[in-house]
Amino acid sequence: MTISIRTEHSKDYPQVHFLNFIAFGNRQDETRIVERIRKSSYFVRDLALVAEEDGEIVGQMMMSKAKVVDGNQSQEVIVLAPIAVIPPKQKQGIGKLLINEGIKRCKEYGFDVIFVIGHPTYYPQFGFKPARPYGVDVKQFEVSDDDFMVCELTENALDSIKGELVYPNSFFE
Ligand SMILES: CC(C)(COP(=O)(O)OP(=O)(O)OC[C@H]1O[C@@H](n2cnc3c(N)ncnc32)[C@H](O)[C@@H]1OP(=O)(O)O)[C@@H](O)C(=O)NCCC(=O)NCCS
Repeated sequence: MTISIRTEHSKDYPQVHFLNFIAFGNRQDETRIVERIRKSSYFVRDLALVAEEDGEIVGQMMMSKAKVVDGNQSQEVIVLAPIAVIPPKQKQGIGKLLINEGIKRCKEYGFDVIFVIGHPTYYPQFGFKPARPYGVDVKQFEVSDDDFMVCELTENALDSIKGELVYPNSFFE
């Protein structure tokens, strides 16, 4: 099997919609989040990725902009969400290909950090580590210290990124 990772195009939207619906247990929440992010100013076209196999979309991952706010200071960061692989193709490394490509592109774009709320056994292999010990909190979601992680793309980036990670409205409305 040959999997290619590429930027999502508008022609992929129906398949991405279906994929998210199935991968998240037949619920619409994540498909709606993806649709709202695409229309927002926080969307980064080249960080919306799909995994394609024989013309079929088997995985998708979105990274988009968010802010870390500290008083009246605000810093632009990247958040990873959502990511999904079609159930019969899970645990074959497709998620890993998507995340590695996303990290590579974030570095090329000059972004300093990526935050994720996710499984603490999965994301550390990519360089993610608990975020709260670095002085960044998240309050919009109830998440444990282990589940709230950050990946530094530039050395010591977290020395100057402190405050509350604020996800855009696209994640809620
Ligand atoms: C989370 C998700 C995107 C991961 O995608 P994936 O393609 O299954 O991920 P990978 O194959 O890279 O890794 C999954 C596991 O399979 C293992 N794996 C990878 N390749 C493998 C292979 N060839 N053979 C056996 N196991 C393998 C990995 O080691 C990993 O195990 P770990 O979590 O214990 O480290 C996918 O499981 C999914 O869509 N889940 C439902 C939606 C969801 O919960 N998304 C996350 C929240 S936004």
